[in-house]
Amino acid sequence: MKRPSIGLTFLVAGVAFVAVACASMQAKSPAETVDARQKMMKENGAAWKAVQDNAKAGNWAAVATAADTLSKNAARIPGLFPAGSMTPDSKAKPEIWQKWSEFEASAKKMETEGARLSALAKAGNAQAANDIIKDFGRNACGSCHGPFRVPPPQK
Ligand code: HEC
Repeated sequence: MKRPSIGLTFLVAGVAFVAVACASMQAKSPAETVDARQKMMKENGAAWKAVQDNAKAGNWAAVATAADTLSKNAARIPGLFPAGSMTPDSKAKPEIWQKWSEFEASAKKMETEGARLSALAKAGNAQAANDIIKDFGRNACGSCHGPFRVPPPQK
């Protein structure tokens, strides 16, 4: 009886590994990726509204929760914009992939500002939390939408 050669065993293992790696990389089509990031952004819209409404109402525990959602979602942003993930439905600008480090920095800013806001709200520090909220829309959302998103139609 002949034993299978070690070389062949490694070859088979290698092919299987590459097949698995490719399958996991192609798990999502561009349309699915665009859909996933638009859903996440809608959630950001809702969480940002929750921050503002609850801050006005003085409900700082709820502000902390919503700000935490914003921070965690921000950490997911770069992963939801793989190169080539464009469809006619997407409002993402090609500048994202031309200026990737700026795009990443912008997501990071939303992550750290969200975490800072969450911590202050949790501590009930209304004054400092309101100071962040005042500029959050411009700092943490607008600073990325400006250069990297096709603006929605003006009403
Ligand atoms: C690092 C960049 C970046 C940051 C930060 C960011 N966005 Fe976005 N946002 C985008 C891009 C790009 C799109 C368009 C995505 C697409 O259509 O493929 C978008 C789309 C949206 C949409 C439209 C989703 C839809 O229905 O198609 C909303 C709402 C939104 N963002 C809210 C927010 C809010 C609120 C914040 C801040 C709390 C925020 N975004 C922060 C890049 C960002």
